[in-house]
Amino acid sequence: MQFYLDTADIKDIKKYSSWGIIDGVTTNPSLIAKEKIKLETRIKEIAEIVDGPISCEVISEDSEGMLTEARKFATWHPNIYIKIPMTAEGLKAVKILNEEGINTNVTLIFSLPQAIMAAKAGATLISPFVGRLDDISFDGMQLIEEIVTAFNNYKFDTKVLVASIRHPRHVNEAALIGADIVTLPPNVFDKLIAHPLSDIGIQKFLEDYKASNQT
Ligand code: E4P
Repeated sequence: MQFYLDTADIKDIKKYSSWGIIDGVTTNPSLIAKEKIKLETRIKEIAEIVDGPISCEVISEDSEGMLTEARKFATWHPNIYIKIPMTAEGLKAVKILNEEGINTNVTLIFSLPQAIMAAKAGATLISPFVGRLDDISFDGMQLIEEIVTAFNNYKFDTKVLVASIRHPRHVNEAALIGADIVTLPPNVFDKLIAHPLSDIGIQKFLEDYKASNQT
């Protein structure tokens, strides 16, 4: 299972990549907007820190515009994956980028047919958004289960990147279903590593060690 960071905050990217278990980074226009920095500058900074796929999203709505943006982003670093929204124009762009050998991540996936269409277009990754489905009282993780089952049925190469993760339970479930990748906001990373019994256990070991008066 691969862990990506879902942020464009360089401090967080440095902090969590120092843990040695980060395989990639996802960004989106909202995350970049929060940083108040040029997209190209920030993506190149991230590529210096993380040696793995870095998703960078287009903002054009037509396939020609998406292709122009995508080809420009792809010159910034070999690890750039072009994030393309799930639309008919997006599918057209993905098909062409796949033929050109440029990796893609089809984003804003909310149904199994959307996931299958993206895979058929040749997406390298697809990003189903589980948290946003849960927010409207749908079961986000059920969608992941459906996608993983269908992709196995048809032997699609496209990898399933579980996005819009809100809490560690989403990570448990994604792992048991066999999703390829989870992309985690920093606050979920902190919750993943924390366990009260780990803290209590460390504290007790230290106290016992000190009480034994060893030099
Ligand atoms: C994924 O690539 C997206 O950037 C992200 O997971 C969206 O999460 P949100 O629903 O919390 O905005």
